Amino acid sequence: MSSWLDDAVFYEIYPQSFYDTNADGIGDIPGIIEKLDYVRELGCNALWLNPCFASPFGDAGYDVADYCQVAPRYGTNEDLEHLFAAAHARDMHVLLDLVPGHTSTEHPWFKASCKAEKNEFTGRYVWTDNVWSPVGDVPGINGVLRGIAERNGAVAVNFFAFQPALNYGFAQITEPWQSAVDSPEALATRQAMKDVMAFWLDRGCDGFRVDMAGSLVKNDPGQEATIALWQDMRAFLDERYPGAVLISEWGEPDKTIRAGFHMDFLLQFGTSHYMDLFRCDHPWFAREGAGDASEFVATYRRNMELTDGKGLMCIPSGNHDMERLRRYLDPDEMKMAFAFVLSMPGCPFIYYGDEIGMRHLDLTSVEGGYMRTGARTPMQWSAGENHGFSSAPAEKLYVAQDPAADAPTVEAAMADEQSLWHEIHRLIALRRATPALGVNAAVDFVYCEKDAYPLVYVRTAEDGSRVLVALNPAAREASCPCDFEGSEVLYALGKGAEAALADGTLVMPAESAVFIALA
Ligand code: NOJ
Repeated sequence: MSSWLDDAVFYEIYPQSFYDTNADGIGDIPGIIEKLDYVRELGCNALWLNPCFASPFGDAGYDVADYCQVAPRYGTNEDLEHLFAAAHARDMHVLLDLVPGHTSTEHPWFKASCKAEKNEFTGRYVWTDNVWSPVGDVPGINGVLRGIAERNGAVAVNFFAFQPALNYGFAQITEPWQSAVDSPEALATRQAMKDVMAFWLDRGCDGFRVDMAGSLVKNDPGQEATIALWQDMRAFLDERYPGAVLISEWGEPDKTIRAGFHMDFLLQFGTSHYMDLFRCDHPWFAREGAGDASEFVATYRRNMELTDGKGLMCIPSGNHDMERLRRYLDPDEMKMAFAFVLSMPGCPFIYYGDEIGMRHLDLTSVEGGYMRTGARTPMQWSAGENHGFSSAPAEKLYVAQDPAADAPTVEAAMADEQSLWHEIHRLIALRRATPALGVNAAVDFVYCEKDAYPLVYVRTAEDGSRVLVALNPAAREASCPCDFEGSEVLYALGKGAEAALADGTLVMPAESAVFIALA
C-alpha cells in the first residue's frame, strides 16, 4: 500500500466544470491549480481528475484521441505538470483517469487500424475478419461498428458507438478473428497502456483511477484473464513506479484487490447495494426512515472477508455518472450521509460540489452526459457572475448552472458554521486525528438489521483504540442492543450527544449521529 493512501481523502474534479480562468466557459487546469488551497482547506488531500486528454468529447473525454496530450481547452501538458507539483507542494496527490478499454474513433491508432493494408495497429482493436461477421453475444462487448473502415471487418464497441474496444485478447476463443490474450497484438496493446502510465508517472502523476477496469479481456466469464492482465500491469508498476496508485472502477473488490488494485469503488452498478443508502425510492439516509442498509452491510462484510479484512473499498458521495446526492437527500440528511462516508474504512471520495449540496439539474445532454449532465454543472463558488465559475457569457458555459435564488455557493457555505461544508470539514479533521477512523482501521458492524435504524459499527485501529459510530437518520428515536462502554463523545450530529449507552442498550435520538471513543 502506498503510504499516502493511508491518510487520503479524495476530491473528484470534473475539469470542465471546476474553475475557468480563460473565460471560455470551460474549466481548466490553471483553474484547478488556483483552487487547490480551497480543496486543501476542506480537508481533502488527494484529487481524482476526470479525463483531461485530447478528445472529440463525445463522452466528456472518456473518448480519448491522444493519451499523452492534455486537451487544449484545459491547457497544456506543462500546466498538468504544474498541477502535480503544486499539489505535491501542499502534500496532496493527484490521480489521472486512465481509460484503457477503448479510445475515440479519432485516435490515430484507430485510424491506422481501419486501413486495408496491414500495419502496426491492425490488431490494436477488436476487429472481425469480415465486415458482415457478427461480433456475437460476447461478454464485454457492447455492440459493433461496421461500414466505417477501408479494411474488411467490423469493430467491437466497448461503450458508446464511437468508443471502439482496444484489443487485449479473448479468454475463450470462439472465432478465428479473436486474438489470444498472449498474442503479439494483444500484448502490444498492453504495452501501449503501460507506456501511457509511464508517460504521466514520469511527469509527476501519482497514479490512476482506472475506467471500466474489468472490461479489457473479452469473453472472460470469471474474469481470471483480466485479473492476470492487471497483475502484470501492477508488476510493471512495482518495478518502475512502486508508489503508483491504482483504483478501479470495477465494483468487485474480491477480484480487484487480487488483481493488484489498491482499492475498488462501490458504485451505482454491481452488487454493492450502494444505492440503497443514498439513491433509491427510500434511501436509508432519508429522515422518513423507510430505508434498508442491511444488504449493503452484508455485501460489505462479504467483501471484507474476501479481501482478507483489508476493507479496501472506496465509498464516493457521488460521481460524474450518478445523480447528485442532493436529488435524494437535503443538506441536513447529507450531513448524516457524510458522517458515514467519512467514518468508514477505505478512502472516501467527495464529488466536487457535494460539499455544498449542489443540486441535480434536469438538463439536455451535453457531451454524452444524458441523465448524468445534471450532476456535471459548473461549480458554484460565489454569488457573483456565473457563480464565480467563469467570466464568459452565461450561454457559453459548459453546462447551465442552478438558476435557483438559493443555489448553494462555497462562499455562503464557508461563512455559515452550521453548513454542510463545515460539517464535512469537521468530520475530515476528526478522521485525520483519530487512528480508529482511518483508512485501514477495521470495521465491525454491531447493529444493522433489515429495514431498521440505527446503524452501529465499531472501528478499531492497529494500536487497539476503538470508536463506536452510531447513525440514526430517521425522524424518530431508535435503539438497539449495544454492549460497549464509552469514554468520550468525539463527534455528535443533531442531538447525538444525548445518545444513551447503558445497560446493554444504545438509544439514539431522532436524526442524530454520535462517535464515541470506547473505553
Ligand atoms: C465510466 C465513466 O465513469 C463514464 O463516465 C464513461 O462514460 C464510461 N466509463 C465509458 O468510458
